Amino acid sequence: MSEQPRASFGGKLSAILVAAGSAIGLGSIWRFPYMAGENGGAAFLLVYLLCVFVVGIPVMLGEFAVGRATKLNAVGGFRSLSRPWRWLGYNGVLGALLISGYYYIVAGWSLEYMVSSFGNLYSSGAPFSEQFAAFQASPRQAIYTVIFILLTHLIIIRGVEKGIEKASKVMMPALLVILVIMAVRVAFMPGAAEGYRFFLNPDFKVAFSPNTIFTAIGQAFFSLSVGMGCMVTYASYFKKDNNLTGTSMSVALLTLMVAVLAGLVIFPAVFSAGLEPAEGASLIFNTLPEIFKDMPFAAVWSAAFFLLLTLASLTSTISFHEVLTAYFAEEHKLSRKWATRLTSALSIALCMLSLYWVFDIDFAGIKMENASCFDLFDYVTANILMPLGGLLTCIFVAWRMKPEFLRDEMTNYGKLKGRAYPLLRFALRFVTPLLIIYIFIKNLGLF
Ligand code: PFF
Repeated sequence: MSEQPRASFGGKLSAILVAAGSAIGLGSIWRFPYMAGENGGAAFLLVYLLCVFVVGIPVMLGEFAVGRATKLNAVGGFRSLSRPWRWLGYNGVLGALLISGYYYIVAGWSLEYMVSSFGNLYSSGAPFSEQFAAFQASPRQAIYTVIFILLTHLIIIRGVEKGIEKASKVMMPALLVILVIMAVRVAFMPGAAEGYRFFLNPDFKVAFSPNTIFTAIGQAFFSLSVGMGCMVTYASYFKKDNNLTGTSMSVALLTLMVAVLAGLVIFPAVFSAGLEPAEGASLIFNTLPEIFKDMPFAAVWSAAFFLLLTLASLTSTISFHEVLTAYFAEEHKLSRKWATRLTSALSIALCMLSLYWVFDIDFAGIKMENASCFDLFDYVTANILMPLGGLLTCIFVAWRMKPEFLRDEMTNYGKLKGRAYPLLRFALRFVTPLLIIYIFIKNLGLF
């Protein structure tokens, strides 16, 4: 444990705000529409919704319990409860490291779009997809990535309470407001109805295919920041009287709301502009400018949106940076300053690897040409490390620990009623882990 007294987040609202700040980010606004676009639209939305409730909320609650009970980082928290389980903490630290290796790049795209809203984006008249490709081919991409890492670094260095709380409080309501305005605006675009059909009218055969469930579980973990110790670390700063069940429900619902709003903005615009919903990681960057371009004050709307997306990303980058910083500071006895520096330096190195190293994979039946660490890191964290971390968290909280552990944390040692306790314990013992195991077996060919 570090010698300095541990920081804590202010009141109840602050805990919800900071945890939602971690959860809401590129996962809901960039990754969700692009995954939904590639996996049957409405079918994906339906399964994602179920995964948030069946998998996301129970695992988040389990992580909250471990973090607040121990007041330690991801590794220290699990280890202090049971030594062999420290590996579950290391799984989270590895996940945070790999996410750092690509998330900042996309956050940098958002920052660049904010700036170029006033520059060439709307004035040059070139197709948006061409502009995006040109940006990706230029050194500006790396520069914005590094700027983003430095911004995160600066906030972390100022300390947990001041930086994270303030950033979350301002950003979130503003983000919701602008998304609602955009959702209303796209409803009037010609051909929007096709987009609603795509996003809201599910094909059940696609929905319940193992592959859709696999991708949706990964998306649920990623968008809720669970399965990698992030919520353990954050809950270590919560106060003793925080209602953990209520907090996890509120965070999950807020995240869902943003993801659904993002879908309601993107898909009508995709079909209206004659774009492809399955175009992948560039989807929102090619689609959103189509919405803004015909609005009065296009540059201002566009810059405001990308500013909010940048802030939403920042409250998420802060959270996985903090997983690593708290780990280095507390487990390796570095000062917070050096722990922060080390984390930022590693993030820069991994992002550069993702940007500049292209390779072919031909391994264990997986064949990929022109692969990059960008996709690899994303796949490995969201589809393997986070579900694995989530699965083990369920087993730890509901099987390894005594029943009182979860009950005490859910009821704040008898002060709250904890009506949801039997249901959540049942989910954590059986439903959530069995679903994850089933999907792992089905999709990764484990047996
Ligand atoms: N939940 C964040 C998002 O949706 O953008 C990403 C994330 C943050 C994942 C923190 C994991 C994490 F520990």
